[in-house]
Amino acid sequence: MQSFVYVAQPARVVFGQGSLTRLPQEIEALGAQKALVLSTPEQRASAERVAGMLGSRAAGIFDRAVMHVPIETAREAREVARKLGADCAVAIGGGSTVGLGKAIALDSGLPILAIPTTYAGSEMTPIYGITEAGLKKTGRDLRVLPRTVIYDPELSMGLPVPMSVTSGINAIAHAAEGLYAHDANPVMGLMAREGIAAIGRALPRIRRQAHDAEARSDALYGAWLCGTVLGHVGMALHHKLCHTLGGTFNLPHAETHTIVLPHALAYNAEAAPLAMQHIAQALGTGSAPQGVYDLARDNGAPVALRDIGMKEADLQKICDLALQNQYPNPRPLERLALLQLLHDAWSGVRPRH
Ligand SMILES: NC(=O)c1ccc[n+]([C@@H]2O[C@H](COP(=O)([O-])OP(=O)(O)OC[C@H]3O[C@@H](n4cnc5c(N)ncnc54)[C@H](O)[C@@H]3O)[C@@H](O)[C@H]2O)c1
Repeated sequence: MQSFVYVAQPARVVFGQGSLTRLPQEIEALGAQKALVLSTPEQRASAERVAGMLGSRAAGIFDRAVMHVPIETAREAREVARKLGADCAVAIGGGSTVGLGKAIALDSGLPILAIPTTYAGSEMTPIYGITEAGLKKTGRDLRVLPRTVIYDPELSMGLPVPMSVTSGINAIAHAAEGLYAHDANPVMGLMAREGIAAIGRALPRIRRQAHDAEARSDALYGAWLCGTVLGHVGMALHHKLCHTLGGTFNLPHAETHTIVLPHALAYNAEAAPLAMQHIAQALGTGSAPQGVYDLARDNGAPVALRDIGMKEADLQKICDLALQNQYPNPRPLERLALLQLLHDAWSGVRPRH
């Protein structure tokens, strides 16, 4: 067994169908009296439901969460929290809403209770991102790690099937890179394999029947595990590429992860054979890159960057940006091979191995 350092991160997780009904007790357990409820404009109704459940413990609703947490939105939300005298934030939604909660917590130390409705996994990480003047800055700070997470699969029933598939593969990406992380450890390895398997099982069933309660529960369970892996160990080439593609070209987050992952895995395959074996086994296939590609394609997800608005002429720029900073990756970063990876992801070809 390899040597490792394992640091557990504190988070209370309440999981199960109907677990949202536990919200008032969970707020009480946090010792909070006035919760600011956060959502996107699209999920205002969910925020109102949450505020209704909290009754006099709801300080108000801020429903302007958007992708990538613009600094202006973060400032506005911090000001609203301050004016209302909020002593905690309840974020109901996907990574964008949880991200807004983190921006508030970073500034004020307010505890966050997260209620995830996608599979992005932000609720299990101390990683925050704030976008200022077109640049998304990310960092790690334990203050932004939600104190309590309520996972209620019922709330993900309404997540449209295409987004469920791409969001699920976004989660798989965290676990896949966690398996070959430079600071990997056996506990995260177990979680990663179990998380990939749970999501791999769930997505085809969700595609057939969006309201399959068992499949929704499996997917959210997998999202928890994969998010935990993201929060505990360092990510590599795949996340770097997706961060650059999202930040510089504003490509949609979950779709970009879905398209790039098979090719990032193919790039790293020979350098990380055990991780590939574990990913393939978890997906019940013979090849990790092909298994992820097939999971996406067979369930109707996009497989080519050109289909989500990327121009071929910009591949060189992405390659340059990806080579700018060195970071740990199983295989060294080689310009020609990286360009080939990007070109394969752009055209949507199935990985050869
Ligand atoms: N810091 C981290 O650890 C971390 C991890 C993963 C993602 N992220 C960030 O999260 C963002 C992406 O998050 P995301 O992929 O969850 O998307 P999102 O939060 O942007 O949500 C996309 C859209 O789907 C809607 N939605 C969410 N759940 C729904 C549901 N159940 N039913 C119907 N509509 C629903 C949202 O309201 C929104 O309009 C990115 O900015 C990414 O960088 C951060």
